[in-house]
Amino acid sequence: MSVKAEGEGAPTKVLRGGSLVTPDGVVRGDLVIEGDKIASVVPGGLAELPEGVQTFDVEGCWVFPGFIDAHTHMQCWTGMDWTADSFETGTRAAVCGGTTTIVDYATQDKGMTLREALDEWHRRADGTCTANYAFHMAIADWNEHTREEVADMRSAGITSFKSYFAYDHLRLDDAQTMELLEAIKPFDGILCVHCENGTLVNELQRRMVQAGITGPEGHALSRPAEAEAEAISRLMYLAELTGARVNVVHCSTRLGLEQVRAARRRGVRVMLETCPQYLLLDDSRYLEKGEDGFAGAKYVMSPPLRKPDDVAALREAVLAGEVDQISTDHCSFNLHGQKDRGRDDFTRIPNGGPGVEHRPALIMTTFEGRLGAMDFLRLLSEGQAKVFGMYPQKGALAAGSDADVCVWDPGQRWTISQANQHQAVDYTTYEGFDVHGRARLVFVNGVLAAQDGDPTGVQPGRYVARRA
Ligand code: URP
Ligand code: ZN
Ligand code: ZN
Repeated sequence: MSVKAEGEGAPTKVLRGGSLVTPDGVVRGDLVIEGDKIASVVPGGLAELPEGVQTFDVEGCWVFPGFIDAHTHMQCWTGMDWTADSFETGTRAAVCGGTTTIVDYATQDKGMTLREALDEWHRRADGTCTANYAFHMAIADWNEHTREEVADMRSAGITSFKSYFAYDHLRLDDAQTMELLEAIKPFDGILCVHCENGTLVNELQRRMVQAGITGPEGHALSRPAEAEAEAISRLMYLAELTGARVNVVHCSTRLGLEQVRAARRRGVRVMLETCPQYLLLDDSRYLEKGEDGFAGAKYVMSPPLRKPDDVAALREAVLAGEVDQISTDHCSFNLHGQKDRGRDDFTRIPNGGPGVEHRPALIMTTFEGRLGAMDFLRLLSEGQAKVFGMYPQKGALAAGSDADVCVWDPGQRWTISQANQHQAVDYTTYEGFDVHGRARLVFVNGVLAAQDGDPTGVQPGRYVARRA
């Protein structure tokens, strides 16, 4: 494939001869972009090329609507440290990998109003982003005022919320979670929930440390599958009781999946997210030593990496169409200077790992030959857009949709490495992974923002206000 740019600065761009991944199927043809919108999808291609347009030959490539990562934590204090990626570096890395929109978790601290949290997230993100960005609102301080503010968040474009069953500084109790579900039900909001039983985790952490298990392996041992499954099950019953819509984020176990399946059979309105790390890595990673004996800390994230049987179960769920979205939970901390502060005590290792840049390549490589372009569309873009009130403005290659476009070259072969990534963190959990396919051209709001895995240097990202 060659990339030919003619008529630099022309308002109209034509992507010629690609396999266009539209909502109705894959068709060969041209895609016309005018300004920041898709003007038309032309099966078979334009009969005549208008004068002065800028053309891109994308033959041999899939043309997707830009991918959407609906689970990130950029420029965020997580109770132990600031994440390594800012909105600027994180969204630039996202676009290099083909992701044109992130939905980040704006997070209320105790004593803060939702409005204050939202203003703070805008202050961090506005004017710095290469990708588009929207916010979920994570609620840590449930009180009368918060309850009133929840419905008001809609006017700021926020229709999805988050609560935690773990992390002492964030978690809500069951009654509070139920009240939050009741508050979002009238406008059909959706609650994303971190499902781990925090009381159980605290006790198991205490026991690990007491038993002298202080290395990264203690992290996984203190957060067993049962702690996830119990919390998912509890959420399923709270959703059933209230009739509200929920999204189980970062599902990581077979046992957790079974809770979701059982709830779906009962008619509970539950969406399901998993992440590349739970589809590609297992808990043997915690024993990695590396040069300084502490490499296992790279994988300290919650929920932790699981058994190979869990990885297999999640892959089966993806293949069976049970998973609505694959997003990353990108929450990066450097190994040196951040994670290594927990060298003598795994409970002091900041939780989270990077991934926003590599998700499309990892997922398309992992499921190559078993899933097709329409499946990748649903799992990496359309699912997120539909669940979170952005469709068809985002997640659709259609006339009138935003011109967020990823031209994916399935023929490229390359190797993921910290040395070639744009994520501002000193490692990647996928070091040395050989992947098939790469984002050849990435347009954000009609502007070419990355090419062959590197940024072009522009920051066309905009805030995305969403509907319920
Ligand atoms: O370890 C993780 N995942 N950190 C980010 C916060 C969360 O739990 O989603
Ligand atoms: Zn979480
Ligand atoms: Zn998260």
